Amino acid sequence: MKRDGALESLWQSEIKVYGHENDVNRTHLDVVIVGAGITGVTTALNLQKKGFDCMIIEAANMGHGTTSGTTAHLNTFFDASYDEVIDDFGLDAAKLLALAAGEALEIIHGNVVEFNIDCDYSPRTAYLFSLDEEQEKILDDLVEGSRKAGIEMNETGINPFGIPSTKVVEIPGQAQFHPIKYIKSLMGEYVKDGGRFVEGCRVAGVEKEGDHLVVSTQQGNIVCDHVIYATHLPPGKNIMHFRNAPYRSYVVALKLRDNNYPQALGYDLYEAYHYYRTHVINGEEYLIAGGEDHKTGDIENTNECFERLVNYVGRYFDIERVAYRWSSQFYESADGLPYIGHLPGSPDNVYCATGYTGNGMIFGTLAAKTLSDLVATGDSIYKKLFDPARTKPLASFTNFVKEGADVVKHLLFDRFSVDKIRTLAALENGQGKVVNYEGYSLAVYKDDTGKEHILQSDCTHLHCTVKWNSEEKSWDCPCHGSRFGINGEVLTGPAVKKLKKPLNPE
Ligand code: FES
Repeated sequence: MKRDGALESLWQSEIKVYGHENDVNRTHLDVVIVGAGITGVTTALNLQKKGFDCMIIEAANMGHGTTSGTTAHLNTFFDASYDEVIDDFGLDAAKLLALAAGEALEIIHGNVVEFNIDCDYSPRTAYLFSLDEEQEKILDDLVEGSRKAGIEMNETGINPFGIPSTKVVEIPGQAQFHPIKYIKSLMGEYVKDGGRFVEGCRVAGVEKEGDHLVVSTQQGNIVCDHVIYATHLPPGKNIMHFRNAPYRSYVVALKLRDNNYPQALGYDLYEAYHYYRTHVINGEEYLIAGGEDHKTGDIENTNECFERLVNYVGRYFDIERVAYRWSSQFYESADGLPYIGHLPGSPDNVYCATGYTGNGMIFGTLAAKTLSDLVATGDSIYKKLFDPARTKPLASFTNFVKEGADVVKHLLFDRFSVDKIRTLAALENGQGKVVNYEGYSLAVYKDDTGKEHILQSDCTHLHCTVKWNSEEKSWDCPCHGSRFGINGEVLTGPAVKKLKKPLNPE
């Protein structure tokens, strides 16, 4: 499996699988980087350029997680809008965030030029548009905040996506690319210059021993000076698990009858907003549309999310067919900004990068810049802004309580709220559900041949009850976003162990 779900994304055929070219057999490294998505690969290359001896360790394969599920919009504006950032963190912080966004775009473009990367990188203008009065008010506030922070936004009368709008704002200087082609080339540069990459090896944790860190992996222990978790949430139990909430977003790549593919990036302002762009793959152009976000595990029949998305987009576009559809996971931080820096509660040289919301390509690149600076010099201009230990009560309190309450609810309540009358026999082929079977809470999937795959429904991270994801064919944990395949294998951390078989399996 190249991606953490059963559906094929538009990008994943470009993933290079390295197999067993390397192992963790190495006495002492400067830096171990866990995870080979955009954050891990860019960080490793940055540090290698600075003279550090690095190893990337990836549980599956390069780009297995969100990097192959993103839609790769490269923006200087974020899900946390600048007016919100000004309210919660102040104008100086908003200006620094705008600076950071511009720097991330420059880094990506600089890499494309320096390494001559063929990743379909294209400059684009982005369009934000309101569809009603309520959205227009949000847009007005957003534009005012963005201008204060230093981001250019101009009102225009044209929405290139042809969606009737009450107001349209254009933002120049944005871009898009093919995310897997991009990180594959960065990985190629890193490996070519002697960087080590080990895939198919899960990291279970890290401990301090004397002056060094010891990373425990499936292939044995590694001694190093610094560890960077580029995995969204790190394994184990950490405050980060309670300051981030996992969400799923849905994407379709559509062929249009009229062949009218707008060469722009587009966004409306619904609470879970829709996002649009186009891309050419193997000579075929597609409209890529996304949205229908929800908290991970909240919807089991995820086909409904795709249907809603296609029906919605079909109001404005003449859809010939859905060529690709897939979903992907992202993490919402408690206060809207990512957590990049020292991992609270861990030894000094252990770092994390998470809470990117829907802006993973930019924040992943910024994380690489920030973390490599922290490792090399102990400092970064973004250290304070993205500090995982920051406390911003005004910004984070509401969400923190809400997401924390969700976790408690799932821990204490969901385990006893499964449908007690459903039985294995009620499942049709291709269906999964959590059932109460002779006193056990079980995650049961009946495959297309009628064979049942029966597992305990307790997530192996902190014991929330997993939920079925009908389209990605996975068991998704609503608490911190761990995901498991039909045979219990870990698709997404922070869990590091498979779902268990029942204690008395049939
Ligand atoms: Fe933490 Fe499941 S991911 S309990």
